[in-house]
Amino acid sequence: MSHLVFTNAIVRTPGRSIVEGLSNSITLGLPNYEQAIIQHQSYIDALTKCGLDVLVLEPCEEYPDSTFVEDVALITPKCAIITRPGALSRRGEVHEIEFVLKQRFNNIEAIEAPGTIDGGDIMMVGGHYYIGLSERTNHEGAKQIIQILKKYGMSGSTISLNKVLHLKTSLSYLEKNNLVVSGEFINDSYFGHYNPIEIPEKESYAANCIWVNETVIIPQGYPTTKQRITNAGYQVIETDVSEFKKLDGGLSCLSLRY
Ligand code: GLY
Repeated sequence: MSHLVFTNAIVRTPGRSIVEGLSNSITLGLPNYEQAIIQHQSYIDALTKCGLDVLVLEPCEEYPDSTFVEDVALITPKCAIITRPGALSRRGEVHEIEFVLKQRFNNIEAIEAPGTIDGGDIMMVGGHYYIGLSERTNHEGAKQIIQILKKYGMSGSTISLNKVLHLKTSLSYLEKNNLVVSGEFINDSYFGHYNPIEIPEKESYAANCIWVNETVIIPQGYPTTKQRITNAGYQVIETDVSEFKKLDGGLSCLSLRY
């Protein structure tokens, strides 16, 4: 049993403006709001089933991507860090989460201009945080967050991304030294000391999954991923997040877990 236990999650209900969210997909079409609401509730149910107390925030119509709360903050055991999202249209989302975090955490830090960083680019492995340098996360943002982590006795390191939106688009740490890997990170020596659980290209969307207290929540409809994670010894819960996929949103992006 891993020593890490999550007890809480924060999510934000999608607004009707979700149809205006950022997307690079040219084939998947626009998300359906009603369907997104149903899927979001199933996601909350999955987190609850894993033992988490889920705080559900009100929709925020001003920011179409604001349901992807993971990008606007990093919650560590020692501090909460408000990020500065790389996409201009998402930058104001931090004010919506700041209020919530200030009510719950004593140590609040923030990334400042010209730094940018999306939480989807940060992968926690114990007290170490891998930070993807991407279209959304720049060197300055990574430098600032590493300084903050050091201040609280933690550490961080950077890795450049070539193809994917966020670091956790292609990687998910499942504790016990097990790392889900896909795409550009398969056989990457930087992560060579982890036990890889490889996800084939046709299921690459499912490489973004979340470990929650010995259960792994994965997107519905990816049988090879389900089989491989089950074979690695985890309980698996599948949840349909197809409407969020249409906005390049991964399953992890829909919650802050701590
Ligand atoms: N649509 C989610 C994002 O691009 O950040």
